[in-house]
Formats: sequence, structure tokens, C-alpha cells
Amino acid sequence: MLSREDLAFMYLEQLPFEPYSFQETAIFSWFSSEQGTLVCAPTGMGKTLIAEAGLYEAIKTGKKAYYTTPLIALTEQKYREIQATLERWGYSKYYVGLITGNRRENPDAPILVVVAEILFNRLLSNAAGKTLNSSAPNDSFNFDDVTTVVMDEFHQFADAERGMVWEFTLHLLPKHVRTLLISATVGNAYEFVAWLRDHIGRHLSLVESTERKVPLTFQWIGDQLLTEQLELMCRGSEEERLTPALVFCFDRNECWNVADQIRGRDLISPEQQKIVTKILDDYGCWKEGAGPHIRQLLIRGVGIHHAGILPKYRRIVEELFQQKLLSFCICTETLAAGINLPARSVVLPSILKGKPGEKKLIESSSAHQIFGRAGRPQFDTRGYVFALAHEDDVKIARWKVKYDQIPEDTKDPVLRAMKKKMKKKAPVRRTTEQYWTADQFQRLEQMAPDKLASKGVIPWRLLAHILSLDSDTDTLRKIAGRRLMSDKWIKEGQKKLDEMLITLHNAGFIELQLENGETWKSPDNG
Ligand SMILES: Nc1ncnc2c1ncn2[C@@H]1O[C@H](COP(=O)(O)OP(=O)(O)OP(=O)(O)O)[C@@H](O)[C@H]1O
Ligand SMILES: [Mg+2]
Repeated sequence: MLSREDLAFMYLEQLPFEPYSFQETAIFSWFSSEQGTLVCAPTGMGKTLIAEAGLYEAIKTGKKAYYTTPLIALTEQKYREIQATLERWGYSKYYVGLITGNRRENPDAPILVVVAEILFNRLLSNAAGKTLNSSAPNDSFNFDDVTTVVMDEFHQFADAERGMVWEFTLHLLPKHVRTLLISATVGNAYEFVAWLRDHIGRHLSLVESTERKVPLTFQWIGDQLLTEQLELMCRGSEEERLTPALVFCFDRNECWNVADQIRGRDLISPEQQKIVTKILDDYGCWKEGAGPHIRQLLIRGVGIHHAGILPKYRRIVEELFQQKLLSFCICTETLAAGINLPARSVVLPSILKGKPGEKKLIESSSAHQIFGRAGRPQFDTRGYVFALAHEDDVKIARWKVKYDQIPEDTKDPVLRAMKKKMKKKAPVRRTTEQYWTADQFQRLEQMAPDKLASKGVIPWRLLAHILSLDSDTDTLRKIAGRRLMSDKWIKEGQKKLDEMLITLHNAGFIELQLENGETWKSPDNG
């Protein structure tokens, strides 16, 4: 049988290029660790190459592995990449499967690339199946043969809505499954590894790097409107152009607005347009949903990508962008993490996110993920990040330039009259709008990534599941008391948990016991 040391050397030998030194360290760390590794390194540093070491181990030892990501587009991209890797290793591409909310390919393959919720649900079903003593266990949910779980974009652990999926996957994973946690944006890696060891009983080695191979240039655009900026970016030779670029909006309607504003401009060459038209005609089916609208945009070199667009159209947008046939892709955060596309630049028309009137500066980890989509190693030697001022501020800045051209102390009556007239027409900020500044953008650039922390309350389904395994509520209380959060929030969480348990008790699903052994009675039901 191959030892892990043998596997490490075999893996390093077959790599398509010389690994960076942190990649080599991480690969050795993975093969020598008992329960796994946390790898933190900036965007575009080749962390996938490290993740694939975990898959290599599974495939060479005849076992199974999961590779999870938080995004559908990223899952699809990793699926294609890992298929190619498997073929390079001499295996059929059918050794890799894909499962997302809207697509399943080779679901019985030994390596499954999945959206994180799929693995979480399987872990829940697997454990529930065991308690029910199912006579026909579903093999695909059996984790006995699973050696590796890679959790890419692991900082999702701290997501307010979905973070629980990552946190409780770690709780539910059988101890023999080694985990490879990967992220570019973890602000407290040491603290996290210690918490994992002390509270979940999983000992991970830690490999960190801070250097980004392709440097990023950050630029605040205070004097150009978005359409003007995008048009400027397409100018010049192939080397001079700042496209292809991803334009990130935090709202689907905003994506359509921006796309429609720029589609009339000269964005791609007639040759590119011909190729795009042929690809779109060959594909043929453009009648569904927003199909006709998307097709019109694509022919003009503009892609659009958000969760409201049919997956088949999203895939074509990704494919055309990958082939550098689009100058821009206007997207939401569906393309914000992990995606490896030939984007020379990233453009942020706004750095605020949220409902109108309640917008907040984007979080530092999200910002770093978005910035990191620009300047990827195999496409460019430098990447660019542009943030634009609000259009009102651009108008004010432009007005000010003109206004300041007339000296304050001019004696010329015509100029004095002009200046007075201009002052009356000075554009101003509106009370109904929220604005952002160059300073805030600079702060985002310099800010360290957010710290990983547990978020939210334990969900009902997980609660029901744990109770089905063990009717003693102590296990639940223990989990609630061990989360990665401040004592105050732990107490709040425990209070909420007690309320949920009482609800289940009152509905007759569980029986709560008092410390003296008596059954607890709610004050409402006597
Ligand atoms: N040692 C290397 N030398 C040259 N290119 C490399 C090396 N390692 C990886 N690459 C290339 O770098 C590109 C980016 O890699 P990858 O997508 O794995 O980055 P990442 O660290 O996962 O980034 P992100 O944090 O954005 O997900 C890939 O195209 C990959 O082929
Ligand atoms: Mg990655």
C-alpha cells in the first residue's frame, strides 16, 4: 500500500509546472497531517493545485473525495478543471461528478464536486439513516470510503446566512475524513485552528502565505461616469486595453441597467462580433426567459451574470468571457469568489451594498474576493481594480473644475457674472441617495480580511437531526456553548436554543427533563 509520503512525492512529480514554495509546503503539510490542513493564501496563488493533492490521495488509494464550493459557477468551473486533471492523471473524466441545486453529472463518481449544502445535507441524511437503522442504506451517502473533503472558499464559514453549513459540516464529518480548508480571506487563521482543535476536536495544520504573484493596481475614478470609464478601458492595443473586465453590481436590476447603458458603444472588434454571433447561432435556443435580451448584449460584447438568469445562459456567458470574446461581464457576487477568468480588471460602480437607504460598505473579505478576480497568473502580469464615485459626485467634481477655473478675485464683470450664475446651478448631493468616498475605497484596499466567526442560530433541521441521534439535549447545549463567537452571543444563542427546545416540547416532539428527573411543563400548558 502506498504511504502518504510516497503519495506526496508522486503528486509533486506529476505537476504541470514548478510549484511555488508555499504550494510545496502546503502539499507536504496535507500529506503529513493526521486530520487535515487549513491553507490561507491570497487570491490567484494556485490553491487549487493544493486542493487537488487531496483528490489525488483519494483516487490513488481507491477511495472517495468531496470538493465543496459556495457558488454554482465556481462548482461548474472546478468540475471542468478537475475533469481535465483526472485525465492528466490517466483516469477517465467520469471519475468526477458534479452536484448543484440545478445540475447532476456522474453522481456516483468517486470525486464529487458539489455546492457546500449538498455535502451538509448528505451528512445529515447519513447520520439520520444510521439512527433509523435503515436496512437499505444509500451508498452515495455513506462516508466510510471518503478520505478527503476539500472546502474551497472556506471563509463562507462566517457568512451571516449560510455560514452554519460550513460550521456544522465540520461537526458532522466523521473523524476519519481528512479536511482541506482553503481560503484567501481568513483574518484569524491561528485562532480558528485552535478553536477547531479545542471545540470540535479536529487537529489541522496551518499553512499561510501573504504574497500575491500578480500585483493589483487600485484606482479611484472620481471624474468619469461609468459608461465613459468602461469605454476608455476598451481603447488601445491588446496590451494597452484594460479589458476583459468584470463589473460587480450588488443588485440584479443594476446589472441590467449597466449592461443596457453600455451595449450601444464600440466594445468588441467586428471579428470578435462575428465569432460571438456564430457561437450564439449554433447554440440556437435563445427564446426562454431573458434569452433574447442576453443574446443582444452578448453580440455587443457585454455579458450578464446573476442568480436570476437561467443556468444554461449563465454558462454561455462564462464560456464567452473565458474565450476573451466579451469586453465586460456585468455580474453580482455569483462570480465573486474563486472564479478563474481572464479578467484584467474589476470595476466597482459602487462599494455600498444593501437595501436602498440601508446600504453599508461591503465587508472586507467580500471586497478582497472581488478584487482578486482581476489579474490571474496564466492571463496577466498585473491586474486593475477601479472603484467609481457616485454619478452625483462626478457631476459635482466636474462642476468644481469649471468653477475653479474662474479666479475668486477676478475683476472682470463678465467672468464675475458667469461665476455667480454657475454657483446658482451648482450640482449637490441628494438627500435620498447614499454616497461613498475614495477614502473608504482606500480603507477596503488596506483592510485585513474579516475574522472567521460562527454566525446565526442553530437551524431547526439540524436541531431535529441532532435530537433524532441523541434525545439528550446536552449534546445540543454543548454545541451551542462551543461556537466561535463572543460569550455574550453564546449566551444569546443558548437562550434561543432553549426557546426552540420548548417549542418542540410543547408540540410533543420531545420531552424535556428537569435536573431532578421530572418532565418539564411549560407555564402555558400548566
Ligand atoms: N506554481 C504555479 N506556477 C504557475 N501558475 C500556477 C501555479 N500554480 C497555479 N497556477 C495557475 O494560477 C491560476 C490560478 O490558480 P487558482 O485558481 O488555483 O488560484 P486560487 O489561489 O485558488 O485563487 P482564488 O483565491 O481566487 O480562488 C491557475 O490558472 C493555475 O493554473
Ligand atoms: Mg481558488
